[in-house]
Formats: sequence, C-alpha cells, structure tokens
Amino acid sequence: MKNLKEILREHGQEHLLDFEGLSPAEHAEYEARLAAIDWETVELWKHPADLSGSGTIEPIEGLRLPDIARRKEEFARVGAEAVRQGKLAAVLLAGGQGTRLGSSAPKGAYDIGVTRPLYIFEQLIRNLQEAVRVCGAAVPLFIMTSERNDAETRAFFEAHGYFGYPAEAVRFFRQEMAPAVDFEGKIFLEGKGKLALSPNGNGGWYSSLVRAGCLKDFPAVEWFNVFAVDNVLQRIADPVFFGATLLSGKAAGAKVVCKASPAEKVGVLCLEDGLPAVIEYYELTDAMANARDGEGNLRYGFGVILNYLFSRSKLEEIARAKIPVHVVKKKVPYMDETGALVTPESENGYKFETLILDMIKLMGSCLPFEVERRREFAPVKNKAGTDSVESARLLLEQNGVKL
Ligand code: UTP
Repeated sequence: MKNLKEILREHGQEHLLDFEGLSPAEHAEYEARLAAIDWETVELWKHPADLSGSGTIEPIEGLRLPDIARRKEEFARVGAEAVRQGKLAAVLLAGGQGTRLGSSAPKGAYDIGVTRPLYIFEQLIRNLQEAVRVCGAAVPLFIMTSERNDAETRAFFEAHGYFGYPAEAVRFFRQEMAPAVDFEGKIFLEGKGKLALSPNGNGGWYSSLVRAGCLKDFPAVEWFNVFAVDNVLQRIADPVFFGATLLSGKAAGAKVVCKASPAEKVGVLCLEDGLPAVIEYYELTDAMANARDGEGNLRYGFGVILNYLFSRSKLEEIARAKIPVHVVKKKVPYMDETGALVTPESENGYKFETLILDMIKLMGSCLPFEVERRREFAPVKNKAGTDSVESARLLLEQNGVKL
C-alpha cells in the first residue's frame, strides 16, 4: 500500500488516496484498480503524440468493383473453401459506448425495427448467416464487449436464443478499460473508490481475444473478419472478400467504399511511406482530396468502413509492436468535491484510445476491396440525420429488409 501511495503522489494523483468509508471488498477492488493504472499512457496527456500522417502519402492500388465482378466466382470458391476448413472467424467489436446514439444499453441491443422489433445484433447475425448458408459451414463468432456492457450483452444474446446462431460457435471477450483525466491530468473518479474508466478503444481487440483464451477451441482459425457493431448492411465472413484477400497474398484486407464526395469525412486507405495506412480526412490537403486519376476516380477515394480481414500469423508477429495511443477530448462524467456526479455539457478531459485503423500500417500489406456503398454501408452512429437510425432504415428497406 505504501508503494501505491508513493506512486500516486509521484504522479500528482493524491486526490485518489481517499479510502474512507469503503467496505473491505470495495477497498480491495479500488486498490487493485489503482495498481493497474498504466502510467505511461496516462502521462501522454502532457505530450500527445502527433499522429497526423507525417510521412509521404500516396494513393494505393486496390480491387475495384469491375475487377471484383470479373473474378467473383474464383474469389468466392477460394473463400468458401477456406471457410469450410474453419480458417475464418468473425470478430464483432461491440465494446464501444455508442454515446452519439444516446442510449446506455449496448448499441447492438438497439431496436431499428418499425412494425416489429429488429435489433442491430439480430440484423448482424442475419448477415453472417447468409455467408454461413453460402459456404455451408458455421463461422466462429467472437464478440468483444467492455466491462460496461458485458453482462447486458451476454444476457441479450441468451434471451434471444443467439438469434438462431449456434451458441457453441459464439464466444464473448472483454476489452481493457482506461482511466480518463481532466485537462490538468488528474484522473477522474465517478464515485467513491471508483475510477471513471471507459473502454480503451478498439485497437486492442486481438490482445484481448488472445488473453481471454477464445482461440483454444478453434485451432484452425487463420484469419479474422473484424467488423463494427453499427453497420447493419455489411456482409460478414463474405467469401468473395476472403477469397480475394487470400489470393492477393497480403496480410490484411479492407472493405472500402468510394468516397461520396471529396469532402466526405471518412478515413481513407492509402500508402504512407510505402505502407498501407488509414489516414483521417483532415490529414488530406484540399488538392489531394480533389485529385482524380485518368478514369475520373478520386485518387484518395477509398473510404474505410471498419470491415477488415487480418491474418493470424501476421498478428502474432506484430503482437509486441506498439500501437499509437490517441489522446481524445471527451465529455467525462465525474464526481465533484461534494460527492455529486456531474455530467458535463462540453468536453472536460481526455480519454486514451488505440484504434484498429492504426493496425493496418503494422500489418505491412493490405488489399483495398471496393464494395457498393448502397448495398453494404449503413452505419448507425446518430439518432437522426447522417449515419443515423433513419438513414440506416431507409437503406435496409432499399435492400429488401422488411422493417
Ligand atoms: P465508434 O468509433 O463509433 O465508437 O466505434 P462508439 O463508442 O461505438 O460510439 P460513440 O463514438 O461513443 O458514439 C466503432 C466500433 O468500434 C467499437 C464500437 O463498438 C464500434 O463497433 N469499439 C469502439 C469498441 O469495441 N471498443 C471501444 O473502446 C471503442
């Protein structure tokens, strides 16, 4: 305990040293939380790394829709065969808090139905089942949750019979949590003896998956199709995408859509210092964002939709590589000096997150694989407006889904 006190003092976090009134169990848990703080990360608030693409940015070659149409059968055959051999697992990233949607329940439990319930998780399972049907084999499904929504997510799947998916093919695993700090670097408390912890981004999915031991029951898995919880139109375990990536010999694949306009705010797959990388829209100069090739395509037009393939052997090779930590300004609910919980109206501190898009560069090679936006991209980020429940409903209906 003395050690812990010293460490907290050393880091200017004496305000965390109040153990009064905690039960022995709460005391022990709080102490364990304090001992687990990753100070290297927390100290980053002082000098956040400049993560904007500082290297040389160039366009990347990828498979466009006509290329894919030409070789679709070949890709599908190769992909489906590998699925039947148990080589592919699907990884659903569902550890986020979905704050923009404004519901405290797991985002996947959100009902996007109109005349009857249709939960986001249900729609995703349907999409996965389509691949299972085409390939003729079940695909293991690993679901990443966080401490905040783990129990609720598991209970939700249980209560709905896994929406018809074989429960023995599903595993849940929890991602790590990270503390948040105010603008002076003081770690927030959200209650007495309770650090304000939040999910530490989606970049740690592989280490969390391995730590949880999910792979033990699925030794044949060589690839992961990792996808976000909120794109209700996406194809999961798509054999065409899988086959194309396998045949490309690359260590990763990324589904991309052509940017709707040069100004669209979406991360773009390109080359950075000769390596595939996803760069944020604000890292492109106007000239780059507007540049077109001889066929009229935007030269930096491959927008990522958070649907990737990663090879397991490469992931193991880069397991020790450092993934950059983003220091992000956020609204962090916290306990003030009077003990009251405050929900701030504007940003009041920093959170620390690693992002899956930064893994692309570490993978060393990546196949951009274009998909049709109106068929495969309907993200539910906001309650209304762009990328919202409304826009996703419209797109689902246009694709023949009865709401
Ligand atoms: P977003 O970046 O949209 O974040 O996540 P979010 O937390 O879901 O939503 P907002 O920003 O609070 O509104 C993209 C994907 O990554 C997952 C999300 O669940 C979503 O599938 N994610 C995000 C995690 O699994 N863990 C995290 O820590 C963050």
